Amino acid sequence: MTNIAILCSGGDVSGMNPAIKHFVEYALQKKLIPYFVYDGYEGLIDNKIVKAGYEDVAGIMIRGGTKIGSARSKRFMQPEYRTVAKQNLDTHNIDMLVVLGGDGSFRGLHAFYKEHGIKFCGVPSTIDNDINGTDYCLGVDTALNIIKVSIDAIRDTAASFRRAFVIETMGRDCGYLALISSLTSGAELCLIPEVEYDLASHEEEFKKQIKNGRRYFIAVVSEGIKQDSQEIADWFEQKIGIESRVSILGHLQRGGNPSTYDRLMAYKFVTYAIDGLLGSYEESVICYTKSGFEFKSIDEVVGKHKQLDSGLLTYLSKM
Ligand code: F6P
Repeated sequence: MTNIAILCSGGDVSGMNPAIKHFVEYALQKKLIPYFVYDGYEGLIDNKIVKAGYEDVAGIMIRGGTKIGSARSKRFMQPEYRTVAKQNLDTHNIDMLVVLGGDGSFRGLHAFYKEHGIKFCGVPSTIDNDINGTDYCLGVDTALNIIKVSIDAIRDTAASFRRAFVIETMGRDCGYLALISSLTSGAELCLIPEVEYDLASHEEEFKKQIKNGRRYFIAVVSEGIKQDSQEIADWFEQKIGIESRVSILGHLQRGGNPSTYDRLMAYKFVTYAIDGLLGSYEESVICYTKSGFEFKSIDEVVGKHKQLDSGLLTYLSKM
């Protein structure tokens, strides 16, 4: 029998639990013995490695977060701790890993494979959707749905009070969540790190709209822009002349029960990951693009800035 383990690394996403559930079920179907590594690479170093069975994943499909925990591990970036991790995996006869994580989480894996021959398949999992080489990362759809519900709710109160709301989304240096949310919620303003902006260029138009009866503004801004959200709200008050509020959605965006799409993508990503490891892919990331699922090398995926869809970016220039 061959042993295979799964771990989550970096920011958790809604969709990890469905992925963990399918990992156990599909591994058993393939006559593999599934293991959990608790708390990411930290757990690999601290030997938090436990055999898993059907009973461990019953009922977790509908839960956000991750049953096996996650962590951002600085220690795993150091070779001596990777040696400890390898020794721990050896005690359980594990030489295949499925890793749910983001760009940063995949960095150490390549070295781990080179040094110790541990085969791996990375499953892109981050609400930021900022991994180069894949159009979709697990968790994005659920996060977008939470943002949508939040903006819809804020719109009600914004309209009642004649206010501007500056709604801040997560995404680190990537404006994907803000761009898509703004486009699909009909926001009046969207600011993202990838696009230079000049607030002054909106002044005349926004003032004219108020004169013509506009009661409220929705501005969706990504956390990575150079200004603080409060500064954008101050601009609405001082230059546009409308009372304003800031709403930082924060970690709400990382929770909630997984959307149907994320449950399905979790199923597909994990199926490919295990099939790839049983086939000829020893060190890869399973990506989803317009051509379908593709195995890509760490070099193709890590450390490169992901470009946002240029077609969607033209939407910003028309705002
Ligand atoms: O990478 C996912 C993410 O949620 C980013 O959007 C955000 O900047 C960061 O993680 C927050 O990290 P933490 O949960 O450590 O505060």
